[in-house]
Amino acid sequence: MASSNKGVSIIRHRDLEPSWHVPGAKVGGTLRSLISWVGGPKGYVNSNPGTAVENNEIGVGLMYLPVGQQQEGLHYHTVTEIYLILKGFVEGKDGSGTNHRAGPMDCVYIPPGVPHGVRNCGLEDVELVWLHDGLERKGATVYCDTEEDVKNAPSKEPVKVVSLRDLEPFWGAPRAKEPEFLRWMVNWIGGPAGFENLNRGVAVESEKIALGLTVLYPGQKQVPHQHAVAEVYTILQGKALIKLDNKNQELGYLDAVYFPPGHIHSLRNIGPDPVYIMWTHGRASPQKGVGIYRL
Ligand SMILES: [Fe+2]
Ligand SMILES: [Fe+2]
Repeated sequence: MASSNKGVSIIRHRDLEPSWHVPGAKVGGTLRSLISWVGGPKGYVNSNPGTAVENNEIGVGLMYLPVGQQQEGLHYHTVTEIYLILKGFVEGKDGSGTNHRAGPMDCVYIPPGVPHGVRNCGLEDVELVWLHDGLERKGATVYCDTEEDVKNAPSKEPVKVVSLRDLEPFWGAPRAKEPEFLRWMVNWIGGPAGFENLNRGVAVESEKIALGLTVLYPGQKQVPHQHAVAEVYTILQGKALIKLDNKNQELGYLDAVYFPPGHIHSLRNIGPDPVYIMWTHGRASPQKGVGIYRL
């Protein structure tokens, strides 16, 4: 339940009531709802104040965009917005008039000030993770009413799309190739030189946030480890177990855990399918800062 950025905290999907407050969210054609696992304090973007973990670095949430719906027009933010598509297909527009398409496990990186909007362009409801690489004040999102607004937007930087298929699995973590600990990782967003980046040259580089995936096979567990930065796990597939305060807690689809820097943690796969753990870091991790392993 609710927590400050001081403690470790599980944020269960069932406890997050969808919010329908964004412009047009309750109008046919632009129907969509949002949740936040991790958001800002009072006055900043947070779809679930009181239930989401409050922090001062990033926002992590989910958008549900049913089939046939789209966001209401183009808009832009004061922070970088990142989408990771979980289900379905979207078509995105950006300020330069370029369209891009994205589907499952594609990551869309939208720099601050770049007008953007997505529509569901497939035949299934879209679930996408949205991330902010900083905190945005409530009401700071600008919706473009006219072509002129789009033209005068602060940035024309390109939107970048990185697909899972472009990312070579990293098997170099301690004991990752040994049965009992079998797992691999990729990152869509990694750090610049001097910071952790498992897919250098392919992943988008950022100092403000990292986004990656750990795939943990059935019966396997992570080597207990900690990070120099805050980390958020979100389960995208499978069932995992985590021990917190000597109590086993089960994690399923769209459950999340917030770990403050230095918290030692390890997940075990307790289901028949690989567990997909999406991980987000509150800022880029110094090269030796990720994975301080307890072997
Ligand atoms: Fe947006
Ligand atoms: Fe971790």
